[in-house]
Amino acid sequence: MNVVFAASECVPYSKTGGLADVVGALPRALAELGHNVTVYLPRYRQTKLVDPKTVLPSVTIPFDDQYRFCSVLDGGKHSGVQFYFIEYPPFFERDELYGLSTGDYPDNPERFAMYCRAVLEASKILGVPDIFHCHDWQTALIPVLLRTNYIGDPAFRNVPVVFTVHNIGYQGLFSPDVLPLLGLPWELFTINRLEFYGKVNFLKGALVYADYVTTVSKRYSLEIQTAEYGFGLEGVLRSRAGTVSGILNGVDYQEWSPDHDKFIAAKYSLDSNDLSGKLECKKDLLAQFGLQDAQLSLPVVGIVSRFVAQKGFDLIAQVADRLAREPLILVALGNGDKEYEELFRRLHTAFPTKFAVKIGYDNALAHKIEAGSDMFLMPSHYEPCGLNQIYSLKYGTIPIVRATGGLDDTIEPWDAKTKKGTGFKFHDYTGEALLDSVRGALHAYADKDGWRDLMHNAMKKDFSWSSSAKEYVRVYERAKQVRAG
Ligand code: ADP
Ligand code: GLC
Repeated sequence: MNVVFAASECVPYSKTGGLADVVGALPRALAELGHNVTVYLPRYRQTKLVDPKTVLPSVTIPFDDQYRFCSVLDGGKHSGVQFYFIEYPPFFERDELYGLSTGDYPDNPERFAMYCRAVLEASKILGVPDIFHCHDWQTALIPVLLRTNYIGDPAFRNVPVVFTVHNIGYQGLFSPDVLPLLGLPWELFTINRLEFYGKVNFLKGALVYADYVTTVSKRYSLEIQTAEYGFGLEGVLRSRAGTVSGILNGVDYQEWSPDHDKFIAAKYSLDSNDLSGKLECKKDLLAQFGLQDAQLSLPVVGIVSRFVAQKGFDLIAQVADRLAREPLILVALGNGDKEYEELFRRLHTAFPTKFAVKIGYDNALAHKIEAGSDMFLMPSHYEPCGLNQIYSLKYGTIPIVRATGGLDDTIEPWDAKTKKGTGFKFHDYTGEALLDSVRGALHAYADKDGWRDLMHNAMKKDFSWSSSAKEYVRVYERAKQVRAG
């Protein structure tokens, strides 16, 4: 099958979160199954390309009162996957992908509408696929355009679109004025299409027009059909529940595995039956945070995260005093909303030897935290899949998670009697529940033999992409049937 991936980020070219990891790995897994995959990405300032060739020097993108002209660069074929980049410096040559800490870029509708139209125009010349696979709101206009402005285009007749929701909290909500600005018909502004409480909602458009909708875990696919987690789009999803499903993200173990991770102080693996390297990683991690004198016997609890409300850090704030009295060291790396950056700074100031904090984005340090920590904390309010808890398993770093979305689907509670399970889970979204769960983990940590069994269970888990990639292929087939009617 020929598949075109449209996404706004992808490792190693651009990244703000897990979407980039998925778009970096899933196409490769599909290529290994024998499919031809082409990935289209915006070319941002942070996108480093070696000697790219311009394949389409000028693609015309209409806006209300003017045309803009972007180009398409050939990024080459890597591990069987073809990469193209949409280049338009006035839109993409910026410090960040979507906005600054003060807010989103106001021209995001134009930026991503250009990107979506460019993907369609480029595909007509570089190869019309059997399937478009689009990801998140930035690509949501692809299904919308295909079924409106492009409905008469013979090139795309019967080409289905699969749309994957990585996070329904980000919808692309704009003033209705963007419709004429982007050359989209006013008839889209109705409750059954893109209208959403007086605004235009790009993501809603994708949920209405895509042939099949997936999300990144089974649990989340059900959660987003409820008022608690659907962010107002639960009704749209429920109305098409027969063509919505959840496929758990996989992990790229070439990047995230302690037996060959290039960022960590010492390698270790279950196969070698020698986990001494993990202690080296712990010493290195503590040194990175200026805690070389800390007691090595204290468990280190790691956090690597975007600092946003979704991730549940207000629960830590609720019980910080009591957490600080527990025998642990908390090590956090993250950036994002000012509110949470300040929260972590305050925790560090109040308890400098208990809460070690780095504000920023640092991939190497993220790997060191995975390897050097004993536990990994993800108290998310909601979590479509979550990748860090799955990475943690492979590093023998035991996840403590709130039972939501992919966190619930990937972590099994540890039972010291049966010696089954891979981590610790709590259900209620309260600081007390988090504290109880952390205490449960500390209690288990005190039993060294039990903890070793728990680490073994975790490290043995395999979340590689191959089985999820096969599930996507089945969804592509299903989308073709839906399109064919
Ligand atoms: P989300 O996509 O919601 O941010 P995921 O758990 O799916 O959550 O993926 C997060 C990805 O981003 C992981 O690869 C994680 O290591 C990385 N990441 C998040 N914040 C940082 C940071 N501050 N520095 C380095 N990597 C980060
Ligand atoms: C989103 C979600 C995260 C998921 C990632 C990749 O950013 O917040 O849970 O793992 O996408 O699908």
